[in-house]
Amino acid sequence: MNISLVQGDITDQRVDAIVNAANSSLMGGGGVDGAIHRRGGPEILAECRELRASRYPDGLPTGQAVATTAGALQARWVIHTVGPVYSRGEDRSHLLASCYRESLVVAASLGAVTVAFPAISAGVYRWPMRDAARIALSTVRQAWPAGSSVAEARFVLFDSAAYAVFEEILAESR
Ligand code: APR
Repeated sequence: MNISLVQGDITDQRVDAIVNAANSSLMGGGGVDGAIHRRGGPEILAECRELRASRYPDGLPTGQAVATTAGALQARWVIHTVGPVYSRGEDRSHLLASCYRESLVVAASLGAVTVAFPAISAGVYRWPMRDAARIALSTVRQAWPAGSSVAEARFVLFDSAAYAVFEEILAESR
């Protein structure tokens, strides 16, 4: 699998699946979540509502992932995943790793070839960017579903600081 880095807005990406840094309600929010719902349109929220009424009555648990239509976005699917809120007192790294792993499993199940990831939990959920990048890149590399359709994981970083951190961590791991 090819791992690439892009600085920009994840809602501009022409990929098969865009991963959303959602919250467990699946009812939208700010950051990536807000941008995806704003530009993707009401179809996305309608499918999220159906998911809450059926599979996830108590909300999508942290670390899990589920797909909906991408609505008006230049993608076929949005894969919603709920990152952990950063905690100094408790190591929740396994939950952040699970977001990437489960999103790849869902992407492969859909037959997606290209997947765009944001820096999950590194915004409102306050995860330090370097550690978020380390977990993101190592998990995607290790969890690549063997023989799956997925050929590219594109990390879309919103600003130059985040991009520089991911670039540094990626270079260290090569
Ligand atoms: N494209 C790419 N990256 C973005 C975009 C965008 N349009 N908007 C924000 N980001 C970046 C942020 O700068 C941060 O580096 O994505 C990273 C994740 O930030 P958040 O979107 O705040 O996600 P997270 O930290 O996981 O918090 C999730 O925030 O928006 C709410 O509903 C959401 O409650 C959930 C929480």
